[in-house]
Amino acid sequence: MSKFYSLTVGNVKKETRDTIVVSFDVPPELKDTFHYQQGQHLTLRSDINGEDLRRSYSICSAVQDQQLRVAIKRTPGGAFSTWANDTLQPGLALQVMPPMGHFNMPLAATNEKHYLAFAAGSGITPMLSIIKTTLQTEPKSRFTLIYGNRASSTVIFKEELTDLKDVYMERLNLVYVMSREQQDIELFNGRITREKCDQFFKHWIQLDDVDAAFICGPEDMIHAVSDSLQAHGMNKSDIKVELFAASIPKNKANVVRPVIGKQECEVTVVIDGYHTVFTMEKEKESLLDAALKNGIDMRYSCKGGVCATCRCKVVDGKVDMDVNYALEDYEIARGFVLSCQSFPVTDKVLVDFDQDN
Ligand SMILES: Cc1cc2nc3c(=O)[nH]c(=O)nc-3n(C[C@H](O)[C@H](O)[C@H](O)COP(=O)(O)OP(=O)(O)OC[C@H]3O[C@@H](n4cnc5c(N)ncnc54)[C@H](O)[C@@H]3O)c2cc1C
Ligand code: FES
Repeated sequence: MSKFYSLTVGNVKKETRDTIVVSFDVPPELKDTFHYQQGQHLTLRSDINGEDLRRSYSICSAVQDQQLRVAIKRTPGGAFSTWANDTLQPGLALQVMPPMGHFNMPLAATNEKHYLAFAAGSGITPMLSIIKTTLQTEPKSRFTLIYGNRASSTVIFKEELTDLKDVYMERLNLVYVMSREQQDIELFNGRITREKCDQFFKHWIQLDDVDAAFICGPEDMIHAVSDSLQAHGMNKSDIKVELFAASIPKNKANVVRPVIGKQECEVTVVIDGYHTVFTMEKEKESLLDAALKNGIDMRYSCKGGVCATCRCKVVDGKVDMDVNYALEDYEIARGFVLSCQSFPVTDKVLVDFDQDN
């Protein structure tokens, strides 16, 4: 179920000084497995210096392209992104998990919507996929993209965005916000902060004309934009958020959790229709870690509550979830949890990894 497939790197393009764009060749027999929705991501896996590392990277192609392409920005001191930028080249095989994620909204050819997107740095990757797909699928819809960067030289997909603007002159509004490069309009200088967003929604963008918003970037920027959108009247349910990394420790495992009932919990895990039962101590480790320890082939990537690769549904019993940066309120209401952040509360728990809704 955590199935990784070996895909060959087809092309590696140096997009900016610190970002590569990598495309994968998908053999005909895996075309269905690697079919994706706009805004979804891939989990890449590699053994780097003896460590099994997994990281998520958003697909940047339109659904219509059906071309697996990701952009990997070098994170200073970052293990996987540094390795990828230094090592990846055409012909190399990499372990790749099929596309997943829910950073999108349903599209319909008859829609006449105005979407808003806020991206910062590598946060542009899922946006490019979403914008291209939407403008192709919904001929009457429009997109406004506010894209924050330090300077023109660091803008990922600058050329592609310019080309897209040429094709969709009337339907794509492209606004660059630069923190270290002076632009003519003062509002477009600086970082995307709460104050700047308030200014945008006061003077530049009529939010009552906007149907939905997408935000992808660092945590502080996501909060700033989301808070401002809501303060100016947008419903939280119309705001989609994708966080690439959390700025706080991976989990609160050091928190003392009072055990209710027995010390041990009987866990049943349903994966690909198979039921596996094991026993774990309630407060010692997460459901994911306990399942891995019991030899179950689990699906995960960040182990930090960010990527949702480990998402499952609690069908019976109750768990306590530490951090959650990935699930939306409606998913939690339906019983979905992140197994890497979940600790059993009841004496029996049944979690199902096969359910999507
Ligand atoms: C859904 C999703 C989609 C994503 N899409 C993209 C994408 O399209 N493009 C993209 O570039 N990224 C994307 N990311 C982020 C990506 O998954 C990785 O998190 C990112 O590339 C960094 O991984 P890394 O292994 O290089 O860094 P890590 O090794 O995981 O390091 C992360 C951070 O910790 C710091 N750090 C590492 N070691 C130490 C140390 N010893 N002491 C102190 N600090 C340290 C690093 O400096 C860095 O800031 C996405 C993430 C998610 C969850
Ligand atoms: S593995 Fe990323 S949220 Fe659990």
